[in-house]
Amino acid sequence: MARLRVGALISGRGSNLQALLDAANDPAYPAEIVTVISNREDAAGLARAAAAGIAHHVVAAPDRPAFAAAADAVLRAARVELVALAGFMRLLDPGFVDAWHDRMMNIHPSLLPSFPGLHPQRQALAAGVKFSGCTVHFVRVAVDTGPIIAQAVVPVEDGDDEDRLAARILAAEHRLYPLAVRLYAEGRLRIHGNRVAIAGGMASDIVALNPSEVLTEILASRRG
Ligand code: GRF
Repeated sequence: MARLRVGALISGRGSNLQALLDAANDPAYPAEIVTVISNREDAAGLARAAAAGIAHHVVAAPDRPAFAAAADAVLRAARVELVALAGFMRLLDPGFVDAWHDRMMNIHPSLLPSFPGLHPQRQALAAGVKFSGCTVHFVRVAVDTGPIIAQAVVPVEDGDDEDRLAARILAAEHRLYPLAVRLYAEGRLRIHGNRVAIAGGMASDIVALNPSEVLTEILASRRG
């Protein structure tokens, strides 16, 4: 069966791109990365695309409409069916977002709608939350909004700084993004307004506690 053709937009390191490339290495994975676009020529992710033998392009346009036109031309020439923003740090032209409506995803390192925008891990630490995580969502014009496809939760630990928390979230991102793209490729996502239902999906009934249940019990027994 033909695999879903995915185009990735990156600006930097490209570790989420790598996670998608690794997933697609398995012929049974229902999607493949067919082209990679970076808005920066120094993006390390370009070398990952090259190493995987994937077409890659630097689109360094002076403004948003020019970037949109050039990126759109690359994506259409590659017959892309789904756009995956993977650490893409430039604001997109609204016309481009509309053109790829429900066919463009983003990954963000927080549990949206908490902590959109820049430095979400720093925002999470400042807010004192006990859990954070990552979100894959369909892209809408307002930054970091759009129907949520999947989320992964990680604990915030007492000794965390921004880098430690970011690394824990990033490990979850690398599992979540390939999952979300797979669900899309399998045709299992149903968008109802702001909610995405997953055909055949199963939510886990595990409830995470932080501090953990075990620790809570130990403390309770010491008090008793
Ligand atoms: C990730 O944390 C992603 O969620 C955010 O930007 C970062 C990109 O990292 N949008 P990488 O380029 O995929 O390594």
